[in-house]
Amino acid sequence: MPEPQLTAQTTAQILEEKIRCRTARVGIVGLGYVGLPLAVEFARAGFHVTGIDLSEAKTRRVNAGDSYIGDIPSAILAPLVQAGKLSATTDFSAVLDLDTINICVPTPLRKTKDPDMSYIVSACEEIVKYLHPGTLVILESTTYPGTTDELLLPMLSKGGLEVGKDFFLCFSPERVDPGNPKFQTANIPKVVGGCTAACTEIGRLFYAQALQHVVPVSSTQVAEMVKLLENTFRMINIGLVNEMALMCDRIRINVWEVIDAAATKPFGFMPFYPGPGLGGHCIPIDPFYLSWKTKQAGIEARFIELAGYINGQMPHFVVDKVQNALNDAGKPVKGSRIHVMGVAYKRDIDDMRESPALDVMMLLQRRGGLVTYSDPHVPRLHVEGLEIDASPQEAAAEADCVVIVTDHAAFDYPALVRQAALIVDTRNALKGVSSPKIVRL
Ligand SMILES: NC(=O)c1ccc[n+]([C@@H]2O[C@H](COP(=O)([O-])OP(=O)(O)OC[C@H]3O[C@@H](n4cnc5c(N)ncnc54)[C@H](O)[C@@H]3O)[C@@H](O)[C@H]2O)c1
Repeated sequence: MPEPQLTAQTTAQILEEKIRCRTARVGIVGLGYVGLPLAVEFARAGFHVTGIDLSEAKTRRVNAGDSYIGDIPSAILAPLVQAGKLSATTDFSAVLDLDTINICVPTPLRKTKDPDMSYIVSACEEIVKYLHPGTLVILESTTYPGTTDELLLPMLSKGGLEVGKDFFLCFSPERVDPGNPKFQTANIPKVVGGCTAACTEIGRLFYAQALQHVVPVSSTQVAEMVKLLENTFRMINIGLVNEMALMCDRIRINVWEVIDAAATKPFGFMPFYPGPGLGGHCIPIDPFYLSWKTKQAGIEARFIELAGYINGQMPHFVVDKVQNALNDAGKPVKGSRIHVMGVAYKRDIDDMRESPALDVMMLLQRRGGLVTYSDPHVPRLHVEGLEIDASPQEAAAEADCVVIVTDHAAFDYPALVRQAALIVDTRNALKGVSSPKIVRL
């Protein structure tokens, strides 16, 4: 057998052995909603984990065992840090000591809805400086199909290392759902696809040490596309049900009752719910990665564009509802006190990224409304055009209209119904409560 192949086998085998024995040094680049829970899972599985993040504030907090991610209590993080299983740094030279690297950095869209690859590129530029033979690199950031092979592979091979032989490269979509008490990093099945069969096998072996179920697929492109199918499915179904809500409103049918009754069908139907608009770092963004990519291949992603349009109309629809409700109560929006309940993009979390509450509040302000808000998870709003501190829920009693934008479990809904003058409920949080002061989406 020729010499290079022998070396290839040896490199892969050495790495596999380290992974099986859990002596492999694990690195996680980007310690956010995705990266920190992943780092914790591997540390809990017995690996020595190093997190690398540009943010000194985050690395300092990790090293102090002080969690800033809702799903990771400090009581879980701190013992791992104290036991020397988990540490964090801003210094990429740590890569020299690592055997595996998961990249979990942001992938936002530019204003033009083009993918912003700058975080991935800058992380890779740093990693490649210290990349050495026998390393497994896995991209987890959501992105367009082709990113791993077309963008990462050339960057990481620059120093002469050969993929599948000297180092191993995979894509594995992250499916974490912050705030979900039932499904978290450890028990969400993990899809992984490598640049070569050897890459896929090492990626599978790696995740199998810490996660309950691993699903290998034949390529990085398939793995990238899996995530986009999942999130496009959600985005389009939410768009459909939002359009249902607009239609039901026009012909005066309670859309919530329709969905609940339809959901009794035991097959062929899955309920989605309307709301004030899409939020978060995934559903409003990821499908546009796909449409950007397919446009280059001459295919217009028409479902995505249409759902994007309808979902984008929802904050305007909510604001029209508020205006109409106030008009019916004899009060113009201009000068009315409007109290928003919940501003995070979904219930029981603190994430404000792309939150539709921001659009609702700005549109209300633009129409002259005096806007306040309550959110136990978001003490302060600091975005362009909105500089507001949260008020306690009792402030709702002073408002001319209350808008439930995010249905956090911590709110006292019976008290709200008693105290508020008028309520626009965009989440059916007041399901089953009948009152003339409640206006539903
Ligand atoms: N949040 C979710 O629910 C979720 C779910 C599935 C997938 N994703 C995807 O996972 C990826 C990460 O998302 P997130 O929510 O964890 O983001 P985040 O903003 O919470 O965390 C990203 C972290 O990366 C750090 N970072 C940025 N550039 C860096 C660099 N060059 N080097 C090192 N660190 C860097 C940031 O400081 C931050 O701490 C995105 O692609 C996102 O689409 C997120």
